[in-house]
Amino acid sequence: MTSITVNAPSGKYDVLIDEGCLLSVGAVLKKQSPGRRVAVVTDDNVAPIYLDKVENSFRLAGFDTYTYILKHGEASKCGANFLDILEFLASSRLDRSDAVAALGGGVVGDIAGFAAATYLRGIKYMQIPTTLLSMTDSSVGGKTAIDLKAGKNLAGAFWQPVSVVADTKCLETLPEAEIKNGLGEILKYAVIAGGEILELLEDGFSRHAARIIALSVDIKRGIVEADEKEAGPRRILNLGHTPAHAAEKLSGYTFPHGVQVAAGVNTMLRASHAKYGLGAADAERIERLTRRLGLPTRFDYSPEELAAAAANDKKAEGSSVNAVIVRAIGKVESVKIPVSELKELFI
Ligand SMILES: NC(=O)c1ccc[n+]([C@@H]2O[C@H](COP(=O)([O-])OP(=O)(O)OC[C@H]3O[C@@H](n4cnc5c(N)ncnc54)[C@H](O)[C@@H]3O)[C@@H](O)[C@H]2O)c1
Repeated sequence: MTSITVNAPSGKYDVLIDEGCLLSVGAVLKKQSPGRRVAVVTDDNVAPIYLDKVENSFRLAGFDTYTYILKHGEASKCGANFLDILEFLASSRLDRSDAVAALGGGVVGDIAGFAAATYLRGIKYMQIPTTLLSMTDSSVGGKTAIDLKAGKNLAGAFWQPVSVVADTKCLETLPEAEIKNGLGEILKYAVIAGGEILELLEDGFSRHAARIIALSVDIKRGIVEADEKEAGPRRILNLGHTPAHAAEKLSGYTFPHGVQVAAGVNTMLRASHAKYGLGAADAERIERLTRRLGLPTRFDYSPEELAAAAANDKKAEGSSVNAVIVRAIGKVESVKIPVSELKELFI
């Protein structure tokens, strides 16, 4: 069992990573929540495989469980479902001492976390991530959100969980496409930090999965502790995201996010080589790794299309756009790039 303590300014909590730790969610929550009730929010892919185990664990620890099942997929992370979950928490008579448990991927984690952040002006919640992306990224750091018609994650709150329990055995049932999605974000961490995570990823994800997940969480921990609310340093976690969001937008959000991040990371490496002094060897090393992971290094859209879409993104401020550039592997920086230069960079 690996345990990583996140010491965020608004809350301290442990991320437990282990094979089979799903069975201990009840005991873990018992230490954090004085209440008798726990509302488990999950989706219709995850529920048939893992819900019984999780509910049993909570009951064994003395909790009454109430379960809300979303339809799987990004479309469920919407305002209507958010309000419906709040009504469900109220009709289940959860009070301030009770807790929410988010069992699933980032969609469930984001919407259940936002419901916990707002119900009775904020109750405790626990993350039980079941996808590679949610284990390594979305369950840690306290960003919760829903999507609006105008764009993804446009309403939300910073609200830290009281604990995160990541059972790596859940990855055995995760479709290959979702593993790749998670690998896109892990590739991002490998560029941000370099060192051991990059070397292990080059040696093969499945050979070192548990260690790579723990290293990813630890990298995110360090960044979140330094800048919980993304005033500055946390922005480096957006490496690759400026062109990736543009591509997702152009696709009508039909492209998987993590896979687009891999193409985005490589785009920013090429841009950083062309304009910000990144050595060719570093860019080529990550490109080789990206191919080996079965991820794309380029987008299906032209630099002009990506630049136009990025200029309208929420991260655009006036005539410039926030983007993360790479000086060297392990050395990244958030900069403002004039909109007029984007099409030369998104090559
Ligand atoms: N809060 C954050 O900091 C943060 C960071 C990155 C991404 N996100 C958000 O995360 C979301 C994406 O999360 P995701 O990639 O986990 O997608 P997801 O939650 O949609 O899960 C992907 C698919 O896998 C299924 N699934 C989940 N676990 C499974 C398992 N163990 N076995 C079989 N099937 C399983 C789900 O039902 C779903 O169909 C997006 O909404 C994104 O905005 C949030």
